Amino acid sequence: MTSAFGDITLIAGTAHPELASSIADALGQPLAQARVARFSDGEVDIKLDEDIRGRDVFVLQPTCPPVNEAWVELLLLLDTLRRASAGRITAVIPYYGYARKDRKDEGRVPISAKVVANTIVASGADRVVTLDMHAAQIQGFFDIPVDHLYARPILLDEVVAMGLENPVVVTPDVGGTKMARAYAKRLNADLAIVDKRRISGTETTIEHIIGDVEGRNCVIVDDLISTGGSITQAASTLKAKGAKAIVIAVTHAVFCGPAVERLDAAPVDAILVTDSIPPKEPSPRKLKVCSIAPMVAETIQNIHFSKSVSSLFE
Ligand code: R5P
Repeated sequence: MTSAFGDITLIAGTAHPELASSIADALGQPLAQARVARFSDGEVDIKLDEDIRGRDVFVLQPTCPPVNEAWVELLLLLDTLRRASAGRITAVIPYYGYARKDRKDEGRVPISAKVVANTIVASGADRVVTLDMHAAQIQGFFDIPVDHLYARPILLDEVVAMGLENPVVVTPDVGGTKMARAYAKRLNADLAIVDKRRISGTETTIEHIIGDVEGRNCVIVDDLISTGGSITQAASTLKAKGAKAIVIAVTHAVFCGPAVERLDAAPVDAILVTDSIPPKEPSPRKLKVCSIAPMVAETIQNIHFSKSVSSLFE
């Protein structure tokens, strides 16, 4: 494939090889040959085995756990490509780690999402593609183009196929209202908001539920599940308030700490996630993973040929 930026090249770090292969397959394009390994002291060791001079290069690397390893690999890949004279470099980051530290909400803390953005640009990215960032405003931390993709169409296909009658879309915290409203609009459904308060990094408490959930089929939507505390507490509260079926639709299955046990114990009928992050083993029993690879491949193709990306979500 050729465009004004040269032929397309795909290259992947080690964060999610299965997703990288699926994207490459969807594009009918092989991944570039490169060594992405470790020196004996643990430092990241990169060597590109192909000439990419003047090419339109897409680096595929979610910055998922182990986050710092994935992040440093991404930065060094970007630097390698810049020094090898790539025509244009796009960082494709299906999961943007550190996104939750996007503001100084107490004294003496960093704005980590901004540090990540600074380093990605400083290392050579010309543009960024990412998916359901914790806060869309993080795009403003970059002074280069950012294409922000949504998993909503992919997850909604599954929800619609379930044929839930009279559903209500629920956000497990006030910050997710905009996302939930977008799901509700597409489903032609009502909206409910869980008023969650965070006690610590791993503990939350629910104060109220705004909206009518009694006797209703609930679809809880969120950008990510980390320890599973927020979403499983929301599910239990909905059940206690008389909800019928409860379906979870979440973009990023970070699943750390007690997440799998909590999800298995929660009163939910289905858990829909994407493959933006490699699956955790063992995974929750009711999990269904929906692939973002076709959507990311189409995005890459549109960027390559200077076509609209937002049109994919209209
Ligand atoms: C919060 O603002 C996010 O959207 C998620 O709801 C939250 O980070 C999930 O964390 P956990 O699964 O640990 O409750």
